[in-house]
Amino acid sequence: MDKIVVLDFGSQYSHLICRRIRDFSVYAELVPYDISMDDLLKLEPKGIIFSGGPSSVYDNDAPMPDGKIFQAELPILGICYGHQLIVNNFGGKVKRANKEYGSSLLSIDDNIDLLSGFGRTIRAWMSHGDEAEEIPNGFEIIGHTENSEAAAIANKQKTVFGIQFHPEVVHTESGTDILKNFVINVCQVKQSWTMEKFVESTIEKISKIEGNVLCGVSGGVDSTVASLLIHKAIGNRLQAVFVDNGLLRLNEPYEIEEIFTKNFEMNFEKINAQEEFLLKLKGESDPERKRKIIGEEFIRVFSKFAEKNGPYKYLAQGTLYPDVIESGVSKGPAAVIKSHHNVGGLPDSLKLEILEPLRDLYKDEVRKVGKILEIPDILLNRHPFPGPGLAVRIIGEVTDKKLEIAKTASKIVEDELQTAGVYDQVWQAYALVGDDKAVGVVGDERKYGRIVMVRVVDSIDAMTADWTRLPSGVLERISNRITNEIDEVTWVSYVISSKPPATIEPQ
Ligand code: XMP
Repeated sequence: MDKIVVLDFGSQYSHLICRRIRDFSVYAELVPYDISMDDLLKLEPKGIIFSGGPSSVYDNDAPMPDGKIFQAELPILGICYGHQLIVNNFGGKVKRANKEYGSSLLSIDDNIDLLSGFGRTIRAWMSHGDEAEEIPNGFEIIGHTENSEAAAIANKQKTVFGIQFHPEVVHTESGTDILKNFVINVCQVKQSWTMEKFVESTIEKISKIEGNVLCGVSGGVDSTVASLLIHKAIGNRLQAVFVDNGLLRLNEPYEIEEIFTKNFEMNFEKINAQEEFLLKLKGESDPERKRKIIGEEFIRVFSKFAEKNGPYKYLAQGTLYPDVIESGVSKGPAAVIKSHHNVGGLPDSLKLEILEPLRDLYKDEVRKVGKILEIPDILLNRHPFPGPGLAVRIIGEVTDKKLEIAKTASKIVEDELQTAGVYDQVWQAYALVGDDKAVGVVGDERKYGRIVMVRVVDSIDAMTADWTRLPSGVLERISNRITNEIDEVTWVSYVISSKPPATIEPQ
């Protein structure tokens, strides 16, 4: 498979370069900037992109790539800091300039190769301090802005290009087409990265492993997709384990069990550990302590199962590409298997290696794989759910009564959003409960009942979130149903705090 390798010099947009390229069916991989030439060649790239980054090429500790890359006769595109690296390395001069942020008008001086297919100008997003003062021998200027004379340069013979702006951000007009021009026209890459191919090749790779695999499943998209890929590859040598901790959504344990046993026909074991979890949580109201108790109990239950039913050679995890990059673990070419012991607190004695079939994928790609594997929409489209479950949606101690209220009220919130056709448009939606009470009237009597809070948020990545402006009719139906259908509840409130300063979950 043809591939583009992106060297990461620390820009906040580095990931976006890969995302944009994958959008037009080309596999792009992000690697640390200091990858050696030997390791880079093992990846067999058809072209290289240098990302932007916060440094100046004149800083003492400026990140520099392996010098051999410049002589590799591979097409190179440098973006922002990457552009300055090219200027510097091929003998040009970079100077400190006035910082330039935001949109600039790029005038195109040469509309072949990189900048082909556009008019005379495009809007380009700038974010830089330094700029090219003298371009190296053999290079020509192919685009300029008012403030930056050499905003786009090219050495056509060497197929080396540099651009001062960021084509990967949406604010650059035709940015994806600029990347496409480089990848497809200059590097001559075939557009062959499809999720169908990914499924096929991953199953083939996994089918070669020996030994049994243990996979914890939660009912979430990532662990479900990971387990299905492995199941298709090794069948009964996979054991899926689902721990019911009593903190899941209403009916969820049954729904997940039914889908896994009926739809997927894999070795699936549901461990009912409700009592153990709830007993350990008894009397605890501190949010962090609750999370810790749940984490420890999960490891205890899971290890007990593995010790009793093993030996297993691998532990499968639904790790995604952004997690791999964030953890700073660089990987070998197309590796799905990483040798590693004692992961996530599991005892060393289990000697499990890690199998991560999704470590090359972004979340939206996982969803596409899920569709190909015919995962029911109820799992595929369900909102994210926190690992510690309802324990973080119950303020204070987790009691049976509060659990029942949180489950029933959350089901009402989800149902009403589905009916109103907005469930798929919001990031998360649920009801939370604490110990506060308020007076209500039921019939002719005054009653001191619970307050339930409804939380619905919009978000792109959960890093920030805004409360959803739900239509008042939907809010009214949710409120009426919660007070009518749950005896103990007298008041319903709607949470209008965004993140920051609040968080999505209350605990
Ligand atoms: P906060 O509450 O920090 O949540 O705004 C951000 C996103 O993360 C989810 N979340 C968790 N997920 N384990 C998880 O797997 C956790 O302990 C946890 N805490 C919060 C939350 O649902 C939201 O999507």
